[in-house]
Amino acid sequence: MKIILSGVKPTGIPTLGNYLGALRNFGKFQEKMKDYEFFIFVADLHAITTPQDPLELKQNIRNVAALYLACGLKPENLTLFIQSEVHEHAEMAYIMQALVYMGELERMTQYKDKVLKQTQGVSSALFTYPALMAADILLYDAKFVPVGDDQRQHLELARDLAIRFNNRFGKTFTVPEGLIQEKGARIKDLQDPTKKMDKSTDNDRGCIFLLEPLSQIRKKIKAAVTDSDACVRFDPEQKPGIANLMTIYSVITEKSFGEIEAMYDGKGYGDFKSDLAEIVVKEIAMIQERYHYFVSSQELTTLLDEGRLRAHQLAQKKLKTVYQKMGLGR
Ligand code: TYM
Repeated sequence: MKIILSGVKPTGIPTLGNYLGALRNFGKFQEKMKDYEFFIFVADLHAITTPQDPLELKQNIRNVAALYLACGLKPENLTLFIQSEVHEHAEMAYIMQALVYMGELERMTQYKDKVLKQTQGVSSALFTYPALMAADILLYDAKFVPVGDDQRQHLELARDLAIRFNNRFGKTFTVPEGLIQEKGARIKDLQDPTKKMDKSTDNDRGCIFLLEPLSQIRKKIKAAVTDSDACVRFDPEQKPGIANLMTIYSVITEKSFGEIEAMYDGKGYGDFKSDLAEIVVKEIAMIQERYHYFVSSQELTTLLDEGRLRAHQLAQKKLKTVYQKMGLGR
């Protein structure tokens, strides 16, 4: 059995970045990699590494689960589940904490960035977060992990921990590999194209949320920061704003940068942005329609029930092996 695994944190509403860097790809990989089982989960234990309102969290968990299906995942070969419903994740995370070094966690750039923003009340779970992520992956012996670029370092750590465990206790874990797309793996903020588009942004104008009103999405794209050059050309160094918009355009339409440049040759940014706004709105309108269907459907509830059972079966077995190899218990 070969497994592909990924997760999304239910903190707020997923963004266009989450969609282009991750959610959209899950269904595409499913079409291409038919002999793989897909384990896709809502990473709710990851969400509580920063404070969450319980009622909002519950709604966000359901939203992310529904959005997986709305963004193209199919029920065939799919184990869809909620991380906290499979208690082995938390237990395996503890094992990973015993394996990982403080220095390794201190080097994680996402942690360093978050601590810069949140100077008070930083939880120890925010620090050990990559150990939980390694646990998620290694519990199921996932071969491939489709993620955006910001998870690259966490994934690398999961690989190191798998290798370390195997060296110490004998071959136990599959060493996972990332599936990071060349385009769309790091969508930038529309107001500050030096930063990644992030759902926990201070300025909502730079971030497109998958469930926000379509009229607002149009406005945000039209107000995106560009430059004074007025030429649609892909140059991430000199023209990061336009390069980001071209990336969004290219991933959704599957047109190359060269084709887009040729289409807008001699035209200003106005035409380009208007067209892009319609392209994005059309894509998100379809997602929203499907989301509204799935979010209150029995189909989703049944999938989550079945997913929990299947995930638990595998996780339980793996954790038992790990405990045995480490000499824990009787
Ligand atoms: P999260 O919830 O922050 O993001 C979910 C996915 O979206 C990708 N992503 C982006 N891609 C392109 N452009 C962006 N601006 C952008 N922002 C986010 C992320 O790379 C990710 O693939 N720790 C993970 C969730 C997780 C996980 C796992 C993933 C927990 N355990 C095990 C894979 C395997 C996270 O917080 O993702």
